[in-house]
Amino acid sequence: MKVPFLDLKLQYEEAKEEIDKGISDVLESQQFILGKKVEQLEKRIADYCGCRYAVGVSSCSDALLVSLLSLNLKEGDEVITTPFTFVSTASAIIHAGLKPVFVDIDESYNIDVERVEDVISTKTRVIIPVHLFGQCASMMEISQLKEKYHLRVIEDSAQAIGAEYPLNGKVKKTCSMGDAGCLSFYPTKNLGGFGNGGMVLTDDAEIYEKIKMLRSHGYDGKCYKVLGWNFRLDALQASVLLAKINFLDKWNRIRRENARYYENLFYDSGLLEKEVVKLPLTLYRGKVENYHTYHQFVIRVKERDALRRFLYERGIETAVYYPFPLHLQPCFSSLGYSKGDFPVAEQICQEVLALAIYPGLKREMQDYIVEQIKNFYNR
Ligand SMILES: Cc1ncc(COP(=O)(O)O)c(C=O)c1O
Repeated sequence: MKVPFLDLKLQYEEAKEEIDKGISDVLESQQFILGKKVEQLEKRIADYCGCRYAVGVSSCSDALLVSLLSLNLKEGDEVITTPFTFVSTASAIIHAGLKPVFVDIDESYNIDVERVEDVISTKTRVIIPVHLFGQCASMMEISQLKEKYHLRVIEDSAQAIGAEYPLNGKVKKTCSMGDAGCLSFYPTKNLGGFGNGGMVLTDDAEIYEKIKMLRSHGYDGKCYKVLGWNFRLDALQASVLLAKINFLDKWNRIRRENARYYENLFYDSGLLEKEVVKLPLTLYRGKVENYHTYHQFVIRVKERDALRRFLYERGIETAVYYPFPLHLQPCFSSLGYSKGDFPVAEQICQEVLALAIYPGLKREMQDYIVEQIKNFYNR
């Protein structure tokens, strides 16, 4: 059996009518950059996330960059984040003239909030929690640190649109818990366009106005008030996303059902008792579950690379997010970190394996994947 890691054609087929209509509207209007479609998308996603303002931008990497630039920080100010994330969470910090300070992760794959306070210094200005793989970081503790040390919080929600977290008695969506939240519409994301795209969400009018200027070369309607750049979102992307967002909650629900199905297969497989496979953690605050949207379903396994090859030879595609933590990537060597600095992230990088989880994945494919994993450990 062939099991692709992701099959975007299935999503396209389901939303095709609305997508094609949206694209055709844009072609008729010949308005390709920003404009009505982008404004509609901004309003739709602001409402969806429970935020006052949204600014469509060219990618999540740019969303992170403009969010940092909007905060009027000084060169060399410090931004705390995780080393177990996509590269641009940290490179955006450096591009903004700031200094990333890493904190190790915990078993949930997200930043270990118990360790954040240890690295807060007089230069710390921002925390960027990453809601990795579709599950919120521990925002209650992060919000408490924000209050205590008067910090700013920018949520990197590239992988987590639709995820929820119980904060101060309310269920909050990602992007609504800090000063700004950043989304990615990269095609493989739970809400993906047909190219690059991103968005910043905020309740702060000052941040909103500043980011709107930064996105269009710093133009305020009269003059180039600040130094900006071209961070604009295309109308074609917005039209695709406006069509697809109608399916987002359904697709996220299916991802969660697929995750539960895998969990049951693994519970019955004997692999957990043998301690060769560990499931991703489902986090609770009290009795309320973090609403995980499973952008990725990432297990931890022994002999990861050999297992991956074994599965590939049997038609099963998998992925590794991430093979190396950021503090060991050459582009961050000037930060002065070395091997051993973040042992949990380093260990987890050697064990993680992402299994197919997309809506449209068939039960018999999941059965086959877990069966083959069993065969590997019984060989
Ligand atoms: C956690 C995280 N942050 C930021 C990004 C950057 O998103 P984009 O590709 O839209 O620039 C990604 C993309 O994969 C991501 O996973």
